[in-house]
Amino acid sequence: MSQKILILGVNGFIGNSLAWNILTTKDWEIFGMDMATNKLTHCLGHERFHFFEGDITINREWIEYHLKKCDVVIPLVAIATPALYVSDPIRVFELDFEANMEIVRKCVKYKKRLVFPSTSEIYGMSMDKEFDEYTTNFVLGPIPKQRWIYACIKQLLDRVIYAYGVKDNLDYTLFRPFNFIGPKLDDINEPKEGSSRVVTQFIHNIINGLPIKLVDGGEQKRSFTFIDDGVDCLVRIIENKDKAASRRIFNIGNPYMNYSIKEVAQMILDLLKEYEEYRDVAGKIQLINVDSREYYGEAYQDIAHRVPSIKEAEKHLGWKPTTDLRTALKLTLDYHLRNKNYELNKMQTR
Ligand code: UGA
Repeated sequence: MSQKILILGVNGFIGNSLAWNILTTKDWEIFGMDMATNKLTHCLGHERFHFFEGDITINREWIEYHLKKCDVVIPLVAIATPALYVSDPIRVFELDFEANMEIVRKCVKYKKRLVFPSTSEIYGMSMDKEFDEYTTNFVLGPIPKQRWIYACIKQLLDRVIYAYGVKDNLDYTLFRPFNFIGPKLDDINEPKEGSSRVVTQFIHNIINGLPIKLVDGGEQKRSFTFIDDGVDCLVRIIENKDKAASRRIFNIGNPYMNYSIKEVAQMILDLLKEYEEYRDVAGKIQLINVDSREYYGEAYQDIAHRVPSIKEAEKHLGWKPTTDLRTALKLTLDYHLRNKNYELNKMQTR
């Protein structure tokens, strides 16, 4: 059935990829808002893609008008970079919590379906081998460890949305991305250290001849998830509205792609040997250990391991990730170093 989808933050890493997937595989119409269009060049001009350049904290009328018109609302606007949780937690609160809370309330008011991004960060420093949506306890650090403001905000939003589901029958799905990676994650040219997530930061350092910094030794692990796998799951969530996805929480992650940060650095350096123009520089890059207090500041605290259980997504959505880390990193490197035409790179790699 054709649906109208409202995506706020459509130019973001998940937003642009989701929009493209929908435009190319479904007959749904997209109304998207963001402050820029640099990641949307492939979507702009498509007859089912309607873009508005705006800010969710300013253009409230546009949002209300389109929210009323649409079937599904996907608010993807948020700061999701750990360095900013530590350096500007109030901004994170204002945008991630306050601005999004307004959207949640409008969904309740107009009885709209809400597909809302929670986060893998919510599980914090839990020691569970696999993080389960319904049984894992959340373990966050003390208040001066401001890194947890993001996890805490998302936890409260999850609880509020859940409560609206119970009280007002809000039709929602909460999804938790686990370290999505891929082309267009962060800006490779952004010079400021810590302003990118780890894979982009490492590629930036390598191509600029800078050492790779392994925070606290780089033994901590993440379950990285390739963006196309993640977006495939999201589309299934949007599709399976009535029974399968409604009022449920889904981890979207790849437990088979669980690697230490050091292993990721090593794999990127190995892969760079395949790019003639970067072979020499990659051979000279040093891996150095840095203390997290030096890199992020005292308010940082890290997660040693973070593996999702994906039983819920398998059971209700028939979803499983299929991309391995090597392929994910190769496609990301191809995009940054060779060709901005990601679709073409994909055809050549697979
Ligand atoms: C991320 C972000 O909070 C969000 O993007 C998101 O909600 C969530 O987790 C997710 O993507 O699932 P984190 O996993 O810490 O947090 O993201 P990165 O900034 O990519 O860092 C990963 C690890 O690499 C951390 O242990 C960090 O200390 C380390 N790192 C980072 C380095 O060793 N060196 C660097 O130069 C940068």
